[in-house]
Amino acid sequence: PFSPEEKRSGSWRLIGPASELSKKRCRLMYSSLGYDSDVCLFYVKGEFFAMDARCSHSGGPLCEGDIEEADGVLQVFCPWHDYDFDLRTGTSGTSLQQQVYEVKLEDGNVYVKHASDLSLQPFPVNQKT
Ligand code: FES
Repeated sequence: PFSPEEKRSGSWRLIGPASELSKKRCRLMYSSLGYDSDVCLFYVKGEFFAMDARCSHSGGPLCEGDIEEADGVLQVFCPWHDYDFDLRTGTSGTSLQQQVYEVKLEDGNVYVKHASDLSLQPFPVNQKT
């Protein structure tokens, strides 16, 4: 229902305290739009990054990917077919593009700019019955 432009131009969504979110390398943030719109929140080298959680190749879980740094560029490698995505820009050596989102810190809290509500807990509509 949302184009990439619309997703990116959403509102700031409060995710939670940075002190808590920085304890894990990646958190899955559920989107109120459903599974395909879920977002990964990475914490790498003191910085937060947000990108679509489902790999733009075939939907692999990027939260479970390995992260490597080469020439100062942080990349996540999809666990399914090892495609790389730049955490900052979402670009890939494969020419695929992963949607990334702006992140900001304010008063110790992490915010992600997204078209839909984001939550660390699944929305009822996302839960499998
Ligand atoms: S699903 Fe991610 S590389 Fe294929």
